[in-house]
Amino acid sequence: MKNSILQAIGNTPLVKVPFPTEANVYAKLEYTNPGGSVKDRSALYMIENAERKGLLKPGGTIVDASSGNHGVAVAMIGAIKGYKVIITASEKSSIEKIQTIKAYGAEIVLCPSTSFIEDPQGYHSVAKKIAATIPGSFMPDQYFNVVNAQAHYTLLGPEIWQQTEGKITHFFAAAGTGGTVSGAGRYLKEQNPNVKVIALDAANSFYSTKGNPKPYKIEGMGIDFTSPVMNYDIVDTIVPVTDEDALQMVKDLPKKYGLLGGLSSGAVAWGTFTYCALLSKETCAVMILGDSGRAYLSKNVF
Ligand SMILES: Cc1ncc(COP(=O)(O)O)c(C=O)c1O
Repeated sequence: MKNSILQAIGNTPLVKVPFPTEANVYAKLEYTNPGGSVKDRSALYMIENAERKGLLKPGGTIVDASSGNHGVAVAMIGAIKGYKVIITASEKSSIEKIQTIKAYGAEIVLCPSTSFIEDPQGYHSVAKKIAATIPGSFMPDQYFNVVNAQAHYTLLGPEIWQQTEGKITHFFAAAGTGGTVSGAGRYLKEQNPNVKVIALDAANSFYSTKGNPKPYKIEGMGIDFTSPVMNYDIVDTIVPVTDEDALQMVKDLPKKYGLLGGLSSGAVAWGTFTYCALLSKETCAVMILGDSGRAYLSKNVF
């Protein structure tokens, strides 16, 4: 029995995926978090860290930019803790995520999808502008605040280490802010330096196109800017994934394996499957399924 919905965050299942590989692959079902994504963990951690430091006071306002899931998480947490929440999101975000943020009572400001995070019209710049106009507001700033990665170092990494009883050999996660892959990855490498940490990136991102980004469909994923949240020292390999490969896998996952993941889950599963294809049965790979396909039904990807 939990005393609060916030205590229901984390402890998500780790389930074997019967990919046709010798390698053992397990999916960490982050979409079973109460807000529906891995971002519940980092949002709660960042908000409670700000409360402890006195950066966020009772009755205050939280403002942040989000591709959707961080916004859902902040809206859910803000609702139960009594904060006003304003989320800026890109027009690329699914209608389901936008409506979910509103369902939790948060205000949403939609901004054009831009290739560069510094674009004054983009959701990050707009969030900063809004926060600057509201006295006593707090911006978690998930894209640039290293507390984001600390959350996954403190919560997700240890959970995976315990669930695999220290047998994990490979860790796969999508890189958006980079918090999940570098935070949990750092913890896992500290336990066993031989653990390989693999980040999945959008093939059209700033990083993977070497500075010539093009639009892509996968939401929440893609290294499009330089930030201390993404720790390249932790990541062994960055695998670029095309929209086509991610979308094909996202369609296969529910039909073949009963896993209704979102777009980044398709990319992560494709990257994990192709990387693990030639690995031996000694392999214990863990991949993060960051959110649910239910958040993208209107995009007709299934
Ligand atoms: C569904 C989904 N997967 C992956 C990510 C990337 O996670 P991170 O920002 O920790 O790199 C995000 C980020 O918003 C996301 O929403």
